[in-house]
Amino acid sequence: MTATRIDGKAFAARLRERVGEHAASFEKATARKAGLAVVLVGEDAASQVYVGAKGKATLAANMASFEHRLPSDATSEALMTLVQQLNEDDSVDGILVQLPLPDHLDEQSIIAAISPDKDVDGFHVINAGRLSVGQAGFVPCTPLGCMMLLTDRLGDLSGLEAVVIGRSNIVGKPMAQLLLDANATVTIAHSRTKDLAAVVRRADIVVAAVGRPQMIGKDWLKDGATVIDVGINRLPPEPGKEKGKLVGDVAFDEASEVAAAITPVPGGVGPMTIAVLLRNTLVAAHRNAGLEAPADL
Ligand code: GUN
Repeated sequence: MTATRIDGKAFAARLRERVGEHAASFEKATARKAGLAVVLVGEDAASQVYVGAKGKATLAANMASFEHRLPSDATSEALMTLVQQLNEDDSVDGILVQLPLPDHLDEQSIIAAISPDKDVDGFHVINAGRLSVGQAGFVPCTPLGCMMLLTDRLGDLSGLEAVVIGRSNIVGKPMAQLLLDANATVTIAHSRTKDLAAVVRRADIVVAAVGRPQMIGKDWLKDGATVIDVGINRLPPEPGKEKGKLVGDVAFDEASEVAAAITPVPGGVGPMTIAVLLRNTLVAAHRNAGLEAPADL
């Protein structure tokens, strides 16, 4: 079998297109744009790239982008004051504080200061709680994007065996919750799981979010499995090259011999994250304006 490549890049482009159209309708209906505020503390190179990309994507989707940059030695009070101002600003529907924060700032207490109704990352404990009891809230962007790819590919997930490898608050745990809500039978596996390969071999759906380059080979996979690879790992550079190749947690070529469908890295899950962030922001804007969010978001 040669697996179908799940084209997250194309799916994300279509979602961004829909968000842009609905954002234009939102502006017509409310005489204001939906707005996303992104806060970056410090000079982390990767974070600067992500924040720049988020700002551009927000503008391209007919929404307002507010970027706030604080120096790497910003105090917790300064960051809290900014978050509080954004909570109170009616032109801001979504707030994202780019992680990781510098070591002297406590991520959990900063996230806790964001209004849960503007927490478009879905990181606030209120939103984690809402997800776990089935109330409408905000779901972290990466697992929600994975879920969109899975339901697009498989339709009804009822009764399927799903194994999520990784138990982070940002990906693994919310992913498992979403799969459970879709009536899959869910196992969360992690670095201490005994005979991980045997556990993964049971799965109709594998979601890999461990951060270990190409850990999951073809002998870990059941014939016909659907594989979602959340990993983004850079291999050491080959001789004469400046940068190493980007790979996922799954050995793509050999896994493709066994799986029915698989996301590539890059071009799979990665592009979904920003698209879902825009989607969450527009949903937030509708809720904040007392409007029902469009059903196809
Ligand atoms: N850093 C890397 N990815 C993310 C994300 O999705 N949200 C936030 N806030 N920070 C990140």
